[in-house]
Amino acid sequence: MTADNELARVLRDEHVDAQDKPVPEIVAGTRAQLARRRICLVRGFPVVADTYMEFLHHFGEPLANYSSRSDLEKDDPHPQINRVKYKSKQGTAKSVHYVAGGLRPHSARSWAAPRPAYFSMLFVEPGWRDAPEGERGESVVVSWHDLFTKLAERDPEDFAEHFARLSKVPITFEANNVREKLSDSPLFYPLPDARDPYDVGVRLKQDLRDKIVGIKDSIPEFGAYQKALDYFLDASDEERYQACFPMEAGDLLILDNNRFAHGRRKIIGERIVDGEVRTNHRELWSVTVA
Ligand SMILES: [Fe+2]
Repeated sequence: MTADNELARVLRDEHVDAQDKPVPEIVAGTRAQLARRRICLVRGFPVVADTYMEFLHHFGEPLANYSSRSDLEKDDPHPQINRVKYKSKQGTAKSVHYVAGGLRPHSARSWAAPRPAYFSMLFVEPGWRDAPEGERGESVVVSWHDLFTKLAERDPEDFAEHFARLSKVPITFEANNVREKLSDSPLFYPLPDARDPYDVGVRLKQDLRDKIVGIKDSIPEFGAYQKALDYFLDASDEERYQACFPMEAGDLLILDNNRFAHGRRKIIGERIVDGEVRTNHRELWSVTVA
């Protein structure tokens, strides 16, 4: 079930090496790769909050972190950094291990207008690697363009209909716990520098399958819309369409937030070793850049 797709291979093969380099040089390498691929893996980046922010400022305005209700702990090394780390659930580790759920592919601030340009994550600690594959908290990336191109080949008629509908119907949904200016664009929206018809922006919320029911009255032909959305969500959740590979400490992944979704496989949060509860130390710093 190794989802070693083409994108994962490209990211590793064409990574930018940050070891012992000044920030401007890392920025130049990253810029060149973003121009080519819209996504870039940087390896050997210093795990220092100020250096990370200095780097990101070259790509736009890092947005303030907001804390969310989650079993992942949010305490911030910097006001714009979202520290993603498993939080120990005292007393819950009754069995051998506790497995926290994965995160479906989604966009950063999917509800917001204007759309943030980039999403970035820097790995501080990769966490437990001896867990079964798919339970190591592996990061996941989906290229919408690649997915749409493959789906158009796989089921031409269904895909064309669903793609057209999701590109046409404006929708507005809210964040679960933040108040920001809301987008009213369709789920798939045009990009000014599109390369071809499938090079569109996508804003996907992780729980949109449930959330959409709450706004059904605002969506014409809701049944058909829901079918299109289900088709698209199921496809984006298929592992064969996802780039997924182990991230090391100092790995920084920056991606075009219009063109790529990010997510995570399941993660073992706690386990018992020699009668003691141990907590997974996996940690990454994510930042959204406008
Ligand atoms: Fe996210």
